[in-house]
Amino acid sequence: MLRRLHKEQPAAFAFTPDNLAWAQAQITKYPEGRQASAIIPLLWRAQEQEGWLTRPAIETIADMLGMAYMRALEVASFYFMFQLQPVGSVANIQVCGTTSCMICGAEDLVAVCKEKIAAKPHTLSADGKFTWEEVECLGACANAPMAQIGKDYYEDLTTGRLAEILDEMAAGRVPLPGPQNGRYAAEPKSGLTSLTEYAKDRAQYNASVQFAVDIGDTIKRIDGTEVPLTAPWQDRSDKTGDAIPDGSGPVLAGDAPIDETGIDRRAAPAESTGRPRTDEPAKAAESTPVSEGASDGQKPESLSAAREGGPDNLKLIKGVGPKLEVMLNGMGFYHFDQIAGWSAAEIAWVDQNLEGFKGRVTRDDWVAQAGTLASGGETEFASRVKKGDVEET
Ligand code: FES
Repeated sequence: MLRRLHKEQPAAFAFTPDNLAWAQAQITKYPEGRQASAIIPLLWRAQEQEGWLTRPAIETIADMLGMAYMRALEVASFYFMFQLQPVGSVANIQVCGTTSCMICGAEDLVAVCKEKIAAKPHTLSADGKFTWEEVECLGACANAPMAQIGKDYYEDLTTGRLAEILDEMAAGRVPLPGPQNGRYAAEPKSGLTSLTEYAKDRAQYNASVQFAVDIGDTIKRIDGTEVPLTAPWQDRSDKTGDAIPDGSGPVLAGDAPIDETGIDRRAAPAESTGRPRTDEPAKAAESTPVSEGASDGQKPESLSAAREGGPDNLKLIKGVGPKLEVMLNGMGFYHFDQIAGWSAAEIAWVDQNLEGFKGRVTRDDWVAQAGTLASGGETEFASRVKKGDVEET
């Protein structure tokens, strides 16, 4: 099938505010210069919002990712999951036509689609509510024949049941997805013959169907409000080596020497690029920590050794791992009260001289945390560390 842009296109495309926030969060998964890696999830979200991929949507996403329009179109036109023509306002029916489903009656299901929707696939029904297409195996072969409608699978279908589902959807209802013949999941139609103890306390629906019931978005166009936006990769400051988008390195190597990961870890962090960051390799912490050349601010008063009783556990401060603790001790900082007393100029000096960790003092507000700990209080992070809930990295 020739896949090309549809001849009729809308004038513009815009993500809904929540979908835009979601899309922008996805982009932060990738380092500077690699934003194009987010192309497939963004195209998919645009399709979930609009039903199909319009030219303005493809171009908007290409602009967001700094890609040539042609490159984005190549992706959109390569993958059959992207619909390049309008789909039904209610649903696009995707009937599996692969072996198991074919043997169990997929061709009869296609006949229902031809009769009730349109004679040809990818063609709007007379009322504009449905389109249909035949797709390859959807991995639910044990429940053949089946069709994906919206996000969910309708399994163990018969021609009569598929016709009923279409009628119900046309009337504004969303029938329960999952097996349509009374089966709970993929057990024998006659019931379980082994492992029967697991059936005693099971929930009303299998996990997949329950999920569909809970979220209720089976055939809904997605506007981003369905589930809360989460981007856990943006806040893993206590996990050494994970990407942290605080704008301070590493950077792509370009033609500079790189390590085995393809990243130039020698590069000085750029403070305002919004790049994801990864902590410096361990050897950075083991080497002399203070950069002689960094002279912003004023060096805080330091100690030549910890006071009697030994140093405080600086790792109780969120953002300070073992490497940073070694580095701080090397600079003459052993105690919470030392850090708690840093002035703005002193914070600036330390921030500048934490090689590989620049800006951490400000980013994690070490001074406030240290103040609480120095006065005998406890921060939420410190109590998690003490309970062992937080891995010291
Ligand atoms: S053959 Fe239809 S789901 Fe696998």
